Amino acid sequence: MKTLVVYYSLTGNTRAVARRVARQLKADVLEVRTVKTYPDDIDVLLGLGKQEVKTGYLPQLQPYRVDLEKYDAVILAAPVWWSTFAPAMKTFMKGKDWSGKKVYPLATNGGTLGHTPSDFRRALKGAEVAPVLSVEFGEDRRQTTPETLIKEWLTIIE
Ligand SMILES: Cc1cc2nc3c(=O)[nH]c(=O)nc-3n(C[C@H](O)[C@H](O)[C@H](O)COP(=O)(O)O)c2cc1C
Repeated sequence: MKTLVVYYSLTGNTRAVARRVARQLKADVLEVRTVKTYPDDIDVLLGLGKQEVKTGYLPQLQPYRVDLEKYDAVILAAPVWWSTFAPAMKTFMKGKDWSGKKVYPLATNGGTLGHTPSDFRRALKGAEVAPVLSVEFGEDRRQTTPETLIKEWLTIIE
């Protein structure tokens, strides 16, 4: 079975988890990046993120190549922004044919997944969507979700 890990990460938390997961599964990796950059100031970023989520904004992604046909399973990893996946992941999921795919969403967050799980299911019409793995990070940006939990989650994919 061939697996692809697709991730979006603004500040590195999701990148670290996604890369580790990909290594453990020997999966292919695709990082999606936005064309525009986001502000460094956390308060400005939070405000902008809120507005993007509220309006359903779809940021343009830098060009990438992916052939989803090649993969039986896809892991989609993204940070939670205002109780849902970050807008860049929304852009990635949109307009693709997910039918028949097994999708394993992973969401890094600071403690509130919100409606991320149901939003993933809605965005991935036709796919078999596994329960979302929540990977939490503390204020100090340290991962608080134990690695054993991630390893356990990986066994449903392998
Ligand atoms: C705009 C914005 C909104 C956020 N909203 C939430 C949220 O609703 N719930 C939560 O638990 N964490 C929230 N966070 C924290 C991030 O989900 C968390 O820090 C994540 O691990 C960042 O991933 P990254 O380093 O890969 O970008 C938010 C962060 C940002 C920047």
